[in-house]
Amino acid sequence: MKLSQQVIYQIYPKSFYDSDGDGIGDLRGIIEKIPYLQKLNVDMIWFNPFFVSPQNDNGYDIADYYRIDPTFGTMSDFEELVAKLKAIGIGVMLDMVFNHTSTEHVWFQKALAGDRKYQKFYYLRHAKPDGSLPTNWESKFGGPAWSPFGESDLYYLHLYDPTQADLDWHNPAVRAACAEVVNYWRQKGVKGFRFDVINVTGKAAQLVDAPKGVASKTLYTDTPIVQDYLKELNAASFGQDPDSVTVGEMSSTTIKNSIGYTNPDNHELSMVFNFHHLKTDYVDGRKWSRMSFDFPRLKHLLDGWATGMNAGNGWQALFWNNHDQPRALNRFGDPGRYRVKSAEMLATVIHLMRGTPFIYMGEEIGMTDPDYDSMADYVDIEALNAYRALVRSGYSHADAFTIVKTKARDNSRTPMQWDASPKAGFTTGRPWLRPTNQAKINVVQELAHGEIFKYYQQLIKLRKTLPIVADGDYRTWRLDDDQVFGYWRQLGSQQLLVLNNFYATTTTVDLPAEMVTAKVLLSNYDAVKVQPKMVLQPYQSVALLVNKN
Ligand code: GLC
Ligand code: MG
Repeated sequence: MKLSQQVIYQIYPKSFYDSDGDGIGDLRGIIEKIPYLQKLNVDMIWFNPFFVSPQNDNGYDIADYYRIDPTFGTMSDFEELVAKLKAIGIGVMLDMVFNHTSTEHVWFQKALAGDRKYQKFYYLRHAKPDGSLPTNWESKFGGPAWSPFGESDLYYLHLYDPTQADLDWHNPAVRAACAEVVNYWRQKGVKGFRFDVINVTGKAAQLVDAPKGVASKTLYTDTPIVQDYLKELNAASFGQDPDSVTVGEMSSTTIKNSIGYTNPDNHELSMVFNFHHLKTDYVDGRKWSRMSFDFPRLKHLLDGWATGMNAGNGWQALFWNNHDQPRALNRFGDPGRYRVKSAEMLATVIHLMRGTPFIYMGEEIGMTDPDYDSMADYVDIEALNAYRALVRSGYSHADAFTIVKTKARDNSRTPMQWDASPKAGFTTGRPWLRPTNQAKINVVQELAHGEIFKYYQQLIKLRKTLPIVADGDYRTWRLDDDQVFGYWRQLGSQQLLVLNNFYATTTTVDLPAEMVTAKVLLSNYDAVKVQPKMVLQPYQSVALLVNKN
C-alpha cells in the first residue's frame, strides 16, 4: 500500500500487555494482542526500543543494538511477532537511537578502557583552561551536558542523561556502524525505522559555548550536515528497500529543513515529526510551565506546516500523542464532559490532513492522563529532575507538583487499559506504572458500548479508500474563526472541507456557497444538516465532500 494510505500505530512495549506477570509489558504480550491491532486495521506498528538497556531512559539508553532486552523477550519472540504481523499485512517500525548510546554499551566501555578507536566514537573534550567544563551546554534532562570520562582528565558529551553518551557522527565509522544496525534489522524483515532525535547529530567539529542569552541547542540542532548524514544512511541501508517507511524525530526543525528531509528527490526520509504544535500550551516556550493552549497559534502552526510541506512536496507525520507527551485529550480536548467527542474531533483533525497519521496506543479508546496525587507515582527521570529543579527555583511543592502532573511523560506511559479490573487487565503482577481510571476507560467497555474505536476505524478506512484523503492537496480554509479549525483538501474536481470545533460551545460557520450541496462524508455527531449557516455542536467535526462538475 502507498505510504499516503497508511496509518501507523505506536506501541510502548513496556506498557502494552504483560504476558508473564512481572508488571512490564513484553513481546509475547504484544503477540497475544495482534487481533486487537488487526481490528483497528493499522498498517505498521512503531515499537519504542526494546533492545538491551539499563533502562535509565526507558530503553533510549541502548547497550546493545542487536539484542532484545530479556525483560521484553527473546529474538525468537521478535521473529514470531514480525511473522505474525506480516501475515496480516502489518509492518514493523523499529526505533533507532543513534544520537547516543548507553554508557554501558561496549563501544563506550572500550573507550573508557583506553581503546583509541572507540574513543573516537564519542565527544571527548578537555576542560577549558580555567578548569570549567568544555562548553556551557545544558543537558535536556537538566544539569550540564558534560560528565567526567572515567579517571581521565577528559569529559564526554551527553545531551540527555549522563548515561546516554553522544556519538560523534563526524566519524565515518560511527555512521557505518549505525547503517549496519539498520541492515541487521532489515534482514529480519523490518521495513520501518524511526530515527530518534536524529537532527541533533549535526554538531560542529569545534564545540563552543553558547553566547549569553542563547540556548545551547540552537548551536547543534537541525544543522545542514544532518541532510548529508541522512542521504548516506539512506543509500547504505533502508533506501535499498523501495517500500521502506522512515520517520525522523526532528527537534526544533523548520518547514524548509523538513521539506529537505522528506522531499522524495532528496532520498533522505519518508517523513518527519515536528513538535511546534505541541508547544502551544507552554509559557514562553518553557515545557515545565502551565497554561491552556493558545488556539490561534495552534491553528496557524497546523496550517502553516501543512501548507508549506504541501508546497515543497514534503511529507509530515501527523500526531497528537506519543510516549513523550501528556495525553492530547487533556491538553486540547475536554477529558471530562466531552471526552468522547473531543477525542474524535482531535482524531479527525489529523487523520484527514495531508501526511501519515500516527495513533499512540490508548488514543483509540480515549485514554487520558492518570490522576496521581503524589510524586511517588512518577518514575520518569525527566519528571523527577524537573520537580527538583522547580522546587530549587522557588516553587512550592504544590505548584511544582501540579506542573509535573500536567507535563510528565509518564502521563502517556501508563499501562494500556484492557479492562476495568484493578490492574486494568494489563498484568497479573504489579504494574510498573499505576493506572487510575480503567474502571471507566478500557478496551472491553469501548468495544462493547463506545464509539471512539469505531470512529478511528472509519477514519482509517477513509484514508485507504478515498484518494482525496490520501493524496489530495492541502488548502487553507479561514484562520480567523474563534473556535473552529478547518481546512480544505483538493484532488481533481473533488473538494473536501473539514471543520473542527475545538470548544465545548455550539458555534455557527458560514459555509462556502459551493459546499451547500456537499455530502457529509463523516461526522462525530448524527443527523448533520448541511446548510449555509452550519451549526457545529461542542467538539463536533464534519467532513464535507463535493464534486465540482
Ligand atoms: C527522544 C525519545 C525520548 C528520549 C530522547 C532521548 O526524544 O522520544 O523518549 O528520552 O529521545 O533518547
Ligand atoms: Mg512482562
